[in-house]
Amino acid sequence: MNPIGRATRAFYDRYSYDFETAEHASMQLEGSLLGEAVRRVPADGRVLDAGCGTGLATRLLRAHTSAKRVFGLDLSRGSLRRNRTLPGTTLVQGDILNLPLASDSIDLVVSRGVIMTTGAPERAFRELVRVTRPGGTFFVRVYNADNVYRHVYEILGPPCRAIASIPGGKTALSILVVPPFWLVLQLLVLVLRGRPIAMSPSVLWNFFADQLLVPHNSFHTADEVKEWGRRAGCRCDAEGSITMGQQIEFLFVKERGLAAA
Ligand SMILES: C[S@@+](CC[C@H](N)C(=O)[O-])C[C@H]1O[C@@H](n2cnc3c(N)ncnc32)[C@H](O)[C@@H]1O
Repeated sequence: MNPIGRATRAFYDRYSYDFETAEHASMQLEGSLLGEAVRRVPADGRVLDAGCGTGLATRLLRAHTSAKRVFGLDLSRGSLRRNRTLPGTTLVQGDILNLPLASDSIDLVVSRGVIMTTGAPERAFRELVRVTRPGGTFFVRVYNADNVYRHVYEILGPPCRAIASIPGGKTALSILVVPPFWLVLQLLVLVLRGRPIAMSPSVLWNFFADQLLVPHNSFHTADEVKEWGRRAGCRCDAEGSITMGQQIEFLFVKERGLAAA
Protein backbone atom coordinates (compact mmCIF):
# COMPACT_ATOMS: atom_id res chain seq x y z
CA MET A 1 0.00 0.00 0.00
CA ASN A 2 1.27 3.49 -0.84
CA PRO A 3 1.97 6.15 1.88
CA ILE A 4 -1.32 7.95 1.10
CA GLY A 5 -3.22 4.67 1.67
CA ARG A 6 -1.44 4.10 4.99
CA ALA A 7 -2.11 7.65 6.19
CA THR A 8 -5.75 7.50 5.06
CA ARG A 9 -6.32 4.18 6.80
CA ALA A 10 -4.78 5.49 10.05
CA PHE A 11 -6.93 8.63 9.81
CA TYR A 12 -10.22 6.76 9.30
CA ASP A 13 -9.29 4.19 11.96
CA ARG A 14 -9.22 7.12 14.36
CA TYR A 15 -11.88 9.47 12.98
CA SER A 16 -14.49 7.44 11.14
CA TYR A 17 -16.80 9.25 8.78
CA ASP A 18 -19.77 9.07 11.12
CA PHE A 19 -21.61 12.35 11.48
CA GLU A 20 -24.73 11.85 9.43
CA THR A 21 -28.24 11.96 10.84
CA ALA A 22 -31.25 9.84 9.85
CA GLU A 23 -32.65 12.93 8.13
CA HIS A 24 -29.47 13.29 6.11
CA ALA A 25 -29.64 9.60 5.22
CA SER A 26 -33.11 9.85 3.71
CA MET A 27 -32.04 13.02 1.85
CA GLN A 28 -29.37 10.91 0.18
CA LEU A 29 -32.07 8.92 -1.58
CA GLU A 30 -34.26 11.88 -2.49
CA GLY A 31 -31.75 14.63 -3.24
CA SER A 32 -28.99 12.63 -4.88
CA LEU A 33 -28.46 10.31 -7.84
CA LEU A 34 -28.07 7.54 -5.26
CA GLY A 35 -31.88 7.23 -5.26
CA GLU A 36 -31.86 6.50 -9.00
CA ALA A 37 -28.95 4.07 -8.57
CA VAL A 38 -30.90 2.15 -5.93
CA ARG A 39 -33.93 1.84 -8.23
CA ARG A 40 -31.74 0.14 -10.85
CA VAL A 41 -30.73 -2.80 -8.66
CA PRO A 42 -32.32 -5.99 -10.03
CA ALA A 43 -34.07 -8.37 -7.62
CA ASP A 44 -31.44 -10.86 -6.49
CA GLY A 45 -28.67 -8.49 -7.70
CA ARG A 46 -25.26 -7.91 -6.15
CA VAL A 47 -24.34 -4.52 -4.77
CA LEU A 48 -21.03 -3.10 -3.54
CA ASP A 49 -20.53 -0.04 -1.33
CA ALA A 50 -16.85 0.63 -1.98
CA GLY A 51 -15.26 2.66 0.83
CA CYS A 52 -18.35 2.10 2.97
CA GLY A 53 -16.96 3.63 6.19
CA THR A 54 -19.50 3.31 8.98
CA GLY A 55 -22.13 2.26 6.43
CA LEU A 56 -24.65 5.01 5.78
CA ALA A 57 -24.98 4.09 2.10
CA THR A 58 -24.60 0.36 2.82
CA ARG A 59 -27.65 0.47 5.10
CA LEU A 60 -29.66 2.37 2.48
CA LEU A 61 -28.67 -0.18 -0.16
CA ARG A 62 -29.71 -3.05 2.12
CA ALA A 63 -32.98 -1.46 3.21
CA HIS A 64 -34.13 -0.12 -0.17
CA THR A 65 -33.20 -2.90 -2.59
CA SER A 66 -34.01 -6.59 -2.80
CA ALA A 67 -30.39 -7.37 -3.68
CA LYS A 68 -29.28 -10.89 -2.92
CA ARG A 69 -25.85 -9.75 -1.75
CA VAL A 70 -24.80 -6.37 -0.35
CA PHE A 71 -21.06 -5.95 0.24
CA GLY A 72 -19.48 -3.10 2.19
CA LEU A 73 -15.74 -2.76 1.69
CA ASP A 74 -13.37 -0.37 3.44
CA LEU A 75 -9.66 0.06 4.04
CA SER A 76 -10.18 1.03 7.67
CA ARG A 77 -10.87 -1.72 10.22
CA GLY A 78 -11.74 1.00 12.76
CA SER A 79 -14.55 2.27 10.49
CA LEU A 80 -15.77 -1.27 9.76
CA ARG A 81 -15.96 -1.98 13.52
CA ARG A 82 -18.22 1.07 13.91
CA ASN A 83 -20.33 0.06 10.88
CA ARG A 84 -23.92 -0.40 12.10
CA THR A 85 -24.57 -3.05 9.52
CA LEU A 86 -27.96 -4.59 8.73
CA PRO A 87 -28.56 -8.36 8.46
CA GLY A 88 -27.79 -9.63 4.97
CA THR A 89 -24.68 -7.47 4.51
CA THR A 90 -21.13 -8.73 4.13
CA LEU A 91 -18.40 -6.39 5.37
CA VAL A 92 -14.92 -6.82 3.94
CA GLN A 93 -11.63 -5.08 4.74
CA GLY A 94 -9.90 -4.23 1.47
CA ASP A 95 -8.49 -1.65 -0.89
CA ILE A 96 -10.49 -0.21 -3.78
CA LEU A 97 -7.26 -0.04 -5.77
CA ASN A 98 -7.15 -3.84 -5.69
CA LEU A 99 -10.62 -5.22 -5.10
CA PRO A 100 -10.99 -8.84 -3.93
CA LEU A 101 -13.92 -9.35 -6.35
CA ALA A 102 -14.27 -10.98 -9.75
CA SER A 103 -14.54 -8.82 -12.87
CA ASP A 104 -18.09 -8.11 -14.16
CA SER A 105 -19.65 -9.46 -10.96
CA ILE A 106 -21.58 -6.54 -9.39
CA ASP A 107 -24.87 -5.01 -10.58
CA LEU A 108 -24.46 -1.71 -8.73
CA VAL A 109 -21.19 -0.27 -7.44
CA VAL A 110 -21.51 2.76 -5.17
CA SER A 111 -18.53 4.87 -4.10
CA ARG A 112 -19.35 8.02 -2.18
CA GLY A 113 -16.48 10.34 -1.34
CA VAL A 114 -13.70 7.77 -1.54
CA ILE A 115 -11.65 7.73 -4.73
CA MET A 116 -10.33 11.27 -4.21
CA THR A 117 -8.70 10.23 -0.93
CA THR A 118 -6.61 7.47 -2.58
CA GLY A 119 -3.98 9.51 -4.44
CA ALA A 120 -4.83 7.43 -7.54
CA PRO A 121 -8.45 8.38 -8.36
CA GLU A 122 -8.52 7.24 -11.98
CA ARG A 123 -6.95 3.91 -11.05
CA ALA A 124 -9.61 3.47 -8.35
CA PHE A 125 -12.30 4.44 -10.88
CA ARG A 126 -11.10 1.78 -13.34
CA GLU A 127 -10.94 -0.88 -10.64
CA LEU A 128 -14.53 -0.12 -9.62
CA VAL A 129 -15.63 -0.33 -13.26
CA ARG A 130 -13.77 -3.64 -13.62
CA VAL A 131 -16.03 -5.34 -11.05
CA THR A 132 -19.24 -3.74 -12.44
CA ARG A 133 -21.11 -6.12 -14.75
CA PRO A 134 -21.63 -5.00 -18.38
CA GLY A 135 -24.91 -3.04 -18.37
CA GLY A 136 -24.56 -2.49 -14.63
CA THR A 137 -24.38 0.90 -12.90
CA PHE A 138 -21.52 2.66 -11.18
CA PHE A 139 -22.39 5.59 -8.89
CA VAL A 140 -19.42 7.79 -7.98
CA ARG A 141 -19.10 11.00 -5.99
CA VAL A 142 -15.98 13.20 -5.78
CA TYR A 143 -15.01 16.68 -4.61
CA ASN A 144 -15.63 19.40 -7.18
CA ALA A 145 -12.51 21.25 -8.37
CA ASP A 146 -14.64 24.32 -9.14
CA ASN A 147 -15.97 24.84 -5.61
CA VAL A 148 -14.71 27.14 -2.86
CA TYR A 149 -14.24 24.15 -0.53
CA ARG A 150 -11.14 23.25 -2.54
CA HIS A 151 -9.48 26.50 -1.37
CA VAL A 152 -10.67 26.01 2.20
CA TYR A 153 -9.10 22.53 2.30
CA GLU A 154 -5.90 23.64 0.59
CA ILE A 155 -5.37 26.75 2.76
CA LEU A 156 -6.70 25.72 6.18
CA GLY A 157 -6.05 21.97 5.96
CA PRO A 158 -2.22 21.97 6.30
CA PRO A 159 -2.05 24.16 9.46
CA CYS A 160 -4.98 22.28 11.04
CA ARG A 161 -3.30 18.92 10.30
CA ALA A 162 -0.01 20.21 11.73
CA ILE A 163 -1.75 21.30 14.94
CA ALA A 164 -3.69 18.00 15.16
CA SER A 165 -0.42 16.05 14.99
CA ILE A 166 1.12 17.59 18.14
CA PRO A 167 0.22 16.60 21.72
CA GLY A 168 -2.79 18.64 22.86
CA GLY A 169 -3.45 19.64 19.25
CA LYS A 170 -6.95 18.18 19.16
CA THR A 171 -7.89 20.19 22.27
CA ALA A 172 -6.42 23.35 20.74
CA LEU A 173 -8.40 22.84 17.52
CA SER A 174 -11.58 22.07 19.51
CA ILE A 175 -11.27 25.36 21.40
CA LEU A 176 -9.92 27.68 18.71
CA VAL A 177 -10.99 26.40 15.30
CA VAL A 178 -14.05 24.17 15.69
CA PRO A 179 -16.36 26.91 17.13
CA PRO A 180 -15.90 29.30 14.15
CA PHE A 181 -16.14 26.27 11.84
CA TRP A 182 -19.48 25.40 13.53
CA LEU A 183 -20.73 28.98 13.10
CA VAL A 184 -19.95 29.05 9.37
CA LEU A 185 -21.53 25.61 8.96
CA GLN A 186 -24.74 26.70 10.73
CA LEU A 187 -24.98 29.84 8.59
CA LEU A 188 -24.62 27.76 5.43
CA VAL A 189 -27.24 25.27 6.62
CA LEU A 190 -29.54 28.14 7.56
CA VAL A 191 -29.27 29.62 4.08
CA LEU A 192 -29.71 26.20 2.48
CA ARG A 193 -32.45 24.70 4.64
CA GLY A 194 -33.95 27.57 6.57
CA ARG A 195 -33.03 26.16 10.00
CA PRO A 196 -29.89 25.21 11.89
CA ILE A 197 -28.76 21.63 12.35
CA ALA A 198 -28.37 19.87 15.72
CA MET A 199 -24.95 18.23 16.16
CA SER A 200 -23.42 16.63 19.23
CA PRO A 201 -19.79 17.64 19.99
CA SER A 202 -18.48 14.28 18.74
CA VAL A 203 -20.50 14.46 15.50
CA LEU A 204 -19.25 18.04 14.99
CA TRP A 205 -15.64 16.94 15.54
CA ASN A 206 -15.99 14.07 13.04
CA PHE A 207 -17.41 16.45 10.47
CA PHE A 208 -14.64 18.97 11.07
CA ALA A 209 -12.01 16.20 10.75
CA ASP A 210 -13.62 14.96 7.53
CA GLN A 211 -13.52 18.44 6.03
CA LEU A 212 -10.04 19.59 7.09
CA LEU A 213 -7.92 16.80 8.54
CA VAL A 214 -8.15 14.05 5.89
CA PRO A 215 -4.50 13.46 4.86
CA HIS A 216 -5.12 13.65 1.12
CA ASN A 217 -7.96 14.90 -1.08
CA SER A 218 -7.93 15.51 -4.82
CA PHE A 219 -10.47 17.70 -6.60
CA HIS A 220 -11.95 17.02 -10.02
CA THR A 221 -14.02 18.61 -12.75
CA ALA A 222 -17.03 16.93 -14.28
CA ASP A 223 -15.24 16.74 -17.65
CA GLU A 224 -12.29 14.94 -16.04
CA VAL A 225 -14.53 12.33 -14.40
CA LYS A 226 -16.47 11.78 -17.63
CA GLU A 227 -13.18 11.32 -19.47
CA TRP A 228 -12.19 8.61 -16.94
CA GLY A 229 -15.54 6.97 -17.71
CA ARG A 230 -14.96 7.10 -21.45
CA ARG A 231 -11.50 5.59 -21.06
CA ALA A 232 -12.84 2.84 -18.80
CA GLY A 233 -15.60 1.86 -21.28
CA CYS A 234 -18.55 3.55 -19.54
CA ARG A 235 -21.41 5.76 -20.62
CA CYS A 236 -22.31 8.69 -18.34
CA ASP A 237 -26.08 8.39 -17.78
CA ALA A 238 -26.58 11.22 -15.31
CA GLU A 239 -24.61 13.82 -13.40
CA GLY A 240 -25.40 16.18 -10.57
CA SER A 241 -24.02 18.04 -7.63
CA ILE A 242 -24.84 18.17 -3.94
CA THR A 243 -24.00 20.25 -0.86
CA MET A 244 -23.97 23.53 -2.81
CA GLY A 245 -21.67 22.17 -5.48
CA GLN A 246 -19.02 20.91 -3.06
CA GLN A 247 -19.37 17.40 -4.47
CA ILE A 248 -20.25 16.17 -7.94
CA GLU A 249 -21.77 12.79 -8.63
CA PHE A 250 -22.35 10.57 -11.64
CA LEU A 251 -24.18 7.48 -12.77
CA PHE A 252 -22.13 5.51 -15.28
CA VAL A 253 -23.29 2.45 -17.15
CA LYS A 254 -20.66 -0.06 -18.17
CA GLU A 255 -20.94 -0.64 -21.88
CA ARG A 256 -21.57 -4.21 -23.04
CA GLY A 257 -18.84 -5.71 -25.15
CA LEU A 258 -16.73 -2.54 -25.24
CA ALA A 259 -13.10 -2.99 -24.37
CA ALA A 260 -11.76 -0.21 -22.16
CA ALA A 261 -9.42 2.18 -24.02
C1 LIG B 1 -15.44 10.24 3.50
S1 LIG B 1 -15.50 8.56 3.99
C2 LIG B 1 -16.98 8.04 3.14
C3 LIG B 1 -17.62 6.82 3.74
C4 LIG B 1 -18.85 6.31 3.00
N1 LIG B 1 -18.61 6.10 1.59
C5 LIG B 1 -20.03 7.25 3.20
O1 LIG B 1 -20.37 7.95 2.25
O2 LIG B 1 -20.60 7.28 4.30
C6 LIG B 1 -14.20 7.80 3.02
C7 LIG B 1 -14.04 6.32 3.29
O3 LIG B 1 -13.21 5.76 2.27
C8 LIG B 1 -12.35 4.80 2.84
N2 LIG B 1 -11.19 4.61 1.96
C9 LIG B 1 -10.24 5.51 1.64
N3 LIG B 1 -9.34 4.97 0.79
C10 LIG B 1 -9.75 3.69 0.56
C11 LIG B 1 -9.23 2.62 -0.23
N4 LIG B 1 -8.12 2.75 -0.95
N5 LIG B 1 -9.91 1.45 -0.24
C12 LIG B 1 -11.05 1.29 0.50
N6 LIG B 1 -11.57 2.28 1.28
C13 LIG B 1 -10.93 3.46 1.31
C14 LIG B 1 -11.99 5.40 4.19
O4 LIG B 1 -11.50 4.44 5.10
C15 LIG B 1 -13.34 6.01 4.62
O5 LIG B 1 -14.11 5.11 5.37
